[in-house]
Amino acid sequence: MSSTGSPVACIELAHVSKSYGRVPALNDLSFEIPVGGRCALLGPNGAGKSTTLKLLVGSLRPDTGHVKILGSSPDSRASKSVVGYLPEDALPYRMLSVRENLEYIGALRGVPDVKGRADFLMDELDLRQYERANVGRLSRGNTQKLAIALALIHYPKVLLLDEPLNYLDIPTQEKVITLLDGLEGTHLVSTHIMSIANRLTDSVVMISNGMFLWEGTIEELKKRGSPDEPIEKVVARMMTGAS
Ligand SMILES: Nc1ncnc2c1ncn2[C@@H]1O[C@H](COP(=O)(O)OP(=O)(O)OP(=O)(O)O)[C@@H](O)[C@H]1O
Ligand SMILES: [Mg+2]
Repeated sequence: MSSTGSPVACIELAHVSKSYGRVPALNDLSFEIPVGGRCALLGPNGAGKSTTLKLLVGSLRPDTGHVKILGSSPDSRASKSVVGYLPEDALPYRMLSVRENLEYIGALRGVPDVKGRADFLMDELDLRQYERANVGRLSRGNTQKLAIALALIHYPKVLLLDEPLNYLDIPTQEKVITLLDGLEGTHLVSTHIMSIANRLTDSVVMISNGMFLWEGTIEELKKRGSPDEPIEKVVARMMTGAS
């Protein structure tokens, strides 16, 4: 709780605008996710989802407005130690093996039992057989699994995941969903796949053209369509401004 008695926001964007040179990416975007919230970030291609996550992890800074993680700047040590980030098209160190990547990042993150943690994540994500393989030789899907393991290695309280199930086969998608579902903390997941949003999150923030469009629970989103209408159709209508 804050000093005013209201719940502390874990993730907070307030009036954030961001351009890449002359290309506007976000325009006066504001939303909050409470501690423990699980939220899907939805929006059409180019809406600004990846930009939003990059601002939250501190790899970009807003032109105007502010971004906070548990009340701190994303640049702060406090914030960096609690955030686990999976970038879109994440590329672990290609010249290191799977184990070396995990142990190196784990050591930098100050993970106490780094070998045990690496073992656990490799087992959870079926990466054991590639333990000694250089990452440059892995398939795209196995590289994605390693990137997910690297995002989780330090037991992050705040997970920022950009299209986490990209490139994964169906059995691995199920494994990752089970793994993520079992993790406590606050999750913000960018995805285009509504069935994934439905299973990984309970609320939605929808953006379009860098602007806030809608927020609510997945149940509220479903209620915006007719009873037998697929949720994808409802979302498509909202994103294109047809409802
Ligand atoms: N490095 C960059 N340089 C210039 N423009 C960029 C850059 N990165 C993103 N943009 C632009 O910013 C806007 C938002 O892009 P962003 O990648 O955040 O969208 P997105 O919602 O993640 O899209 P997608 O669903 O395709 O991943 C787009 O117009 C994009 O072209
Ligand atoms: Mg993106």
